[in-house]
Amino acid sequence: MGKQKDIIILGIESSCDDTAAAIIRNEVIISNEVSGQAIHMAYGGVVPELASRAHQQNIIPVVDLAIKNAGISVRDISAVAFTRGPGLLGSLLVGTSFAKGFSLARNIPLIEVNHLQGHVLAHFIQEKTVEKKNPEFPFLCLLVSGGNSQIIIVRDYLDIEVIGQTIDDAAGEAFDKCAKVMGLPYPGGPLIDKLAKGGNPMAYVFAKPRIPRLDYSFSGLKTSFLYFIRDRIAENPDFIEEHKADLCASLQETIIQVLMTKVKLAAKETGIRTIAVAGGVSANSGLREALINAAEKHNWVMHIPPFKFTTDNAAMIAITGYYKFLKGEFASHDAVPYSRVTIK
Ligand code: KG4
Repeated sequence: MGKQKDIIILGIESSCDDTAAAIIRNEVIISNEVSGQAIHMAYGGVVPELASRAHQQNIIPVVDLAIKNAGISVRDISAVAFTRGPGLLGSLLVGTSFAKGFSLARNIPLIEVNHLQGHVLAHFIQEKTVEKKNPEFPFLCLLVSGGNSQIIIVRDYLDIEVIGQTIDDAAGEAFDKCAKVMGLPYPGGPLIDKLAKGGNPMAYVFAKPRIPRLDYSFSGLKTSFLYFIRDRIAENPDFIEEHKADLCASLQETIIQVLMTKVKLAAKETGIRTIAVAGGVSANSGLREALINAAEKHNWVMHIPPFKFTTDNAAMIAITGYYKFLKGEFASHDAVPYSRVTIK
């Protein structure tokens, strides 16, 4: 029997403010490029219209670079996978239209990928030079990003169920919105993480909502934080500057406690002890520490992906595309992006 042909997938990600392209050969990533959009910093958040324009400018150079850095020819690509949603519609349209054009021009299959499923399957990306163990099925995944916050049971690559989620703001949004209240630039999450290191996490207490079962909420925390700051500033205009580290540490601690309470409950209720974390907020050092401590205490097997695969990237779209390719799950050329959707 001859050697099986390699499966090479081009992944495209354009759901928010990163234009990304990656190439995967079987499960091994051979190039992973991303072009961020600094333009949004001046506005304190992502401006959808500007994001779409920047994607339009960036997409061809980014794909070109991904192909060059992979050391392959366009003729080697077996299929093109793209993020269909959720995300900003104008941004998604750029990646979707590019992927359709590429699929038609090369006469190769088109594969649609749910961005959230991509975050989860990022755990299966292999790197050429790094030995790593994949999570064993079934596992629980805490997906915490700027747009999403969910607890998911992963039974198999393409068999995924959301068992708990935020009923309002995502965890990253809670970080970013509270950072804005303190006058920090966007995205505030990484800055809060950095400043929290010099502060006391018990200095202040903010509202922790009581939401039944595995769902949770962050909008009450945001309001409580806003009112707290407003009242303190009325007494002392320099309050934020003088207490920034304590504010950041206490806020971060509250967000972590909300998430950890629900992860522990999910592990207890499902009896699953393999726990993974995904999404941009999984870069948070306090959250990582809390997960590692809980893993030790409750005998969990913890999986924390490398930072480059936690934030938005196209490698996660390519790996999801690979598993869909193996199952023959292809998209039709009339597929339209969706801005809101959960994982089915
Ligand atoms: O997954 P991601 O890159 O983008 C999407 O939301 O799709 O996540 C970005 C979010 C932002 O809200 C950012 O503030 C947050 O992740 N983030 C962090 C940290 N690094 C990124 N939040 C807290 N601590 C961090 N170290």
